[in-house]
Amino acid sequence: MVTFSASGKYLFEQLITSLVQVDKKHRLFVKKRLDWHNLIPSWLRRRHLGLQAKGQNFMLEGSDFWILGGSVHYFRVPRQYWMDRLLKLKACGLNTLTTYVPWNLHEPERNKFDFSGNLDLEAFIWMAAELGLWVILRPGPYICSEIDLGGLPSWLLQDPDMKLRTTYKGFTEAVDHYFDHLMSRVVPLQYKLGGPIIAVQVENEYGSYYKDPAYMPYVKKALEDRGIVELLFTSDNKDGLSKGVVHGVLATINLQSQNELDLLTTFLLNAQGVQPKMVMEYWTGWFDSWGGPHNILDSSEVLKTVSAIIDAGASINLYMFHGGTNFGFINGAMHFNEYKSDVTSYDYDAVLTEAGDYTAKYFKLRDFFASFSGAPLPLPPKLSPKTAYDPLMPAFYLSLWDVLKYMGEPIQSETPVNMENLPVNDGNGQSFGYTLYETTISSPGVLSGLVRDRGQVFVNTVSIGYLDYNKKKIDIPLLQGYTVLRILVENRGRVNYGDNINDQRKGLIGDLYLDGSPLKKFKIYSLDMKKSFFQRFSINKWSAIPETPTFPAFFLSGLSVGPDPSDTFLKLEGWEKGVVFINGQNLGRYWNIGPQETLYLPGTWLDPGLNQVVVFEEKVAGPMIQSMEMPYLGRNKYLN
Ligand code: GLA
Repeated sequence: MVTFSASGKYLFEQLITSLVQVDKKHRLFVKKRLDWHNLIPSWLRRRHLGLQAKGQNFMLEGSDFWILGGSVHYFRVPRQYWMDRLLKLKACGLNTLTTYVPWNLHEPERNKFDFSGNLDLEAFIWMAAELGLWVILRPGPYICSEIDLGGLPSWLLQDPDMKLRTTYKGFTEAVDHYFDHLMSRVVPLQYKLGGPIIAVQVENEYGSYYKDPAYMPYVKKALEDRGIVELLFTSDNKDGLSKGVVHGVLATINLQSQNELDLLTTFLLNAQGVQPKMVMEYWTGWFDSWGGPHNILDSSEVLKTVSAIIDAGASINLYMFHGGTNFGFINGAMHFNEYKSDVTSYDYDAVLTEAGDYTAKYFKLRDFFASFSGAPLPLPPKLSPKTAYDPLMPAFYLSLWDVLKYMGEPIQSETPVNMENLPVNDGNGQSFGYTLYETTISSPGVLSGLVRDRGQVFVNTVSIGYLDYNKKKIDIPLLQGYTVLRILVENRGRVNYGDNINDQRKGLIGDLYLDGSPLKKFKIYSLDMKKSFFQRFSINKWSAIPETPTFPAFFLSGLSVGPDPSDTFLKLEGWEKGVVFINGQNLGRYWNIGPQETLYLPGTWLDPGLNQVVVFEEKVAGPMIQSMEMPYLGRNKYLN
């Protein structure tokens, strides 16, 4: 321990203060600060009391504090728009930003971490600090959040005995390793060390899962052992509250309906005595599933519930303040009676729209928060323009069967292998996208097997239908001379909430049978459709679109924009089901069963001039792709 004279103490304080300021401007200093922290004597550390639960109030640095939070997920918003969304959050009268941290995106392969570009968590947190916002961090490891496998990496499922969200060694070892890495980044961003993080969540709604009583104490300790010193809390919905409470951790609740407000007053009181009350997730809307409606929550209803929560003396976090987009293949799914996957848009009918525009909820809530804010709220930033560009006419085409030529040697296997266990990506398997399984048959028959989630079946290149959760068998007709059986299987999103998260392996699970006999000798193509996938076939491989194209196929077109590209929404009328890529970047899935009919295309992902748009279509191509000024997310259904 370093000791100081009185004047030394003063100087040291000055030094730390200036270091903190320097750090805020220059993030490169952040890592060094962690080492400095060990030199800071405890009297100085105690100067920062942080967020405290004192009786029924929160206190920050010794003063009463009311958390007015809003959730924005950096991984669902283009980085170039982070500032705009946070300025809007601040101008709405909120004082705290809340975000999850998705492990599956940050560690896509074991021990290969990505915190760059749109995943630069530290930059996002510092940006909030720059605007004077506090941050509540929700690092999981499991986060739910309508993301594939609740944010857990799919490579965990390579272990046939894996028990996710328990103290099973194979799981905790992976969590420990990830937390070593993640916490070294976020520990220096805590309030007590001069950063904006005032509280950290322990896992997510564990009370609704609760497979292992030792698990939550383990996660709590894993955070503390790595230097998390701010207030810890749990967050549970009404189904899990009774089991979710952890000793020494503040319990908070998640809800939407005003009828559940008694949970705040009675349940929390019974469970943990007099403590500050907090609704960690007040659901401002809801997510949508393919084949369902577009869920809407009336803005007056939202205002009523938010004011009732504040009236009950509780702090609040709006989940979501701004939902953003499930870009690429990151969406999750639910599987209770039926498997339902989430749509690409994570608009959520939240306070800001998917494209960051204001809603009636925004202005109502802003007026409400302004009514008890000490100072006038900052003015809301001006709207970002939206443009309807000229329709895109696909000019070139490549059928999937042609693309296979550029994929390199397929994997050869006696029996089918599920996606996660494919020997690709340095032994980490395939997380997202499609996998093509190919074998030979010598007779017609009934094909059956476990297909996750949806497999289009072909004899040679002739599509004969689909296998999925509902359709478990299909007749393979006799087609003279046709002996290649193919099945193109799509991972539509792993379940993110419920008991069956260990059961989320994708592709072909186990054997594929023809008339009850297992088929053998497979060729397997991993079609993850990452940027590198497209680099394998250059522009001269594409050909003009024939009169009757063979599907599935890739369609290439150009989107021409001016010097200052703006946001737009792509509408694929007449197309059936597939994925859209802009300059190699995966925008997400479309499907004509709706509800979502337009895909959000952020202007910041467009280059001035000509942009490459590739559509992967499974079944039927439309005549064009329209660009619209407005989104259409489907037929509204009011939540009640
Ligand atoms: C729960 C979870 C969130 C999210 C919402 C629904 O509260 O904690 O991650 O899944 O449900 O949007």
